[in-house]
Amino acid sequence: MDAESLQTEALGAILGAHTLAELDEVRVRFLGRSSQLKLALREVRDRETGQRLNGVREHLETAVAERQAILERANLDHSLTTESVDVTLPGTPIPRGHLHLITQIRRQVEDVFLGLGYEIFDGPEIDDRWHNFTALNTPDWHPSTSPNDTFYLADDDNLLLRTQTSPGQIRFMETHEPPVYMVSLGRCYRRDTPDPTHTPFFHQVECLAVDRGITLADLKGTIQHLARELYGPEREVRIRTSYFPFTEPSIEADVTCYLCGGAGCRVCGDSGWIEMGGAGVVDPNVFQHVGYDPEEVSGFAFGFGLERMAMLRHGLPDIRALWENDLRLLRQF
Ligand code: DAH
Repeated sequence: MDAESLQTEALGAILGAHTLAELDEVRVRFLGRSSQLKLALREVRDRETGQRLNGVREHLETAVAERQAILERANLDHSLTTESVDVTLPGTPIPRGHLHLITQIRRQVEDVFLGLGYEIFDGPEIDDRWHNFTALNTPDWHPSTSPNDTFYLADDDNLLLRTQTSPGQIRFMETHEPPVYMVSLGRCYRRDTPDPTHTPFFHQVECLAVDRGITLADLKGTIQHLARELYGPEREVRIRTSYFPFTEPSIEADVTCYLCGGAGCRVCGDSGWIEMGGAGVVDPNVFQHVGYDPEEVSGFAFGFGLERMAMLRHGLPDIRALWENDLRLLRQF
């Protein structure tokens, strides 16, 4: 075997290998077990030939190792350039949740009244007859006190799930001296069968202002401010007479329809007006129940449904949609 020409041939093949796989083939061909060189080494009988062949083997092994290092580095460079992350590309969108529609409207209403200097008050959801009915000038014979309408706690006809946020008025006045500017928002419960406009639980915002010289005009102005903040600066408010035990006079407040602006459309049932809820001038009997002097102070109050506000705002036709958690609907807001 001509060791010299074998070495030249092998070195050429090693340098000619352009991939690690090709280099491996070359290595097996010239340095593998059954390569010419290995076979010749096994046959060696004299020292001189052995040294010469081993020299060739070492030389080739070094050449393979060097070539391998070069190819590996090239591979690395290649993947670094081709596999790098382009941080300027848009990412995979991750769906983001949002606050429940009732929570959104609740916070908006709170913001409106905080902006007017009102205090936010939390009343208990389990309350008693006195706060939910009696102190609110609602006698025991009043139909709303019936267990057909009100959830009483088992074996107790005194404790109940509040049917309105109005008991918050009583609790606040019991613990604060006038002047009073407070709103109380939260859950209420009534024995109603679910339908498009009723659920056995719902939310109200209660507003109470008590000061010297408060009039119906202050009530109307406050409702108008709230309506304009929620439904836009063009909204007008009108009041109609109504009845509630704890207000005298009692009124029902309407706001011009946010969709048609008063012309009449499907949202407002062609009337141009949307009902906000009940309100009125605080009845002197209520003041007497909390130890306020009706000769000294007067007040207004209202209680509106948050579900109704959210339904109007988002054009929801059915109150139950707010509790069914259908993401196809909720994701739209
Ligand atoms: N609590 C009444 C209801 O649930 C709503 C209401 C009417 C609240 C008049 C008031 C008010 O504060 O003055 O139907």
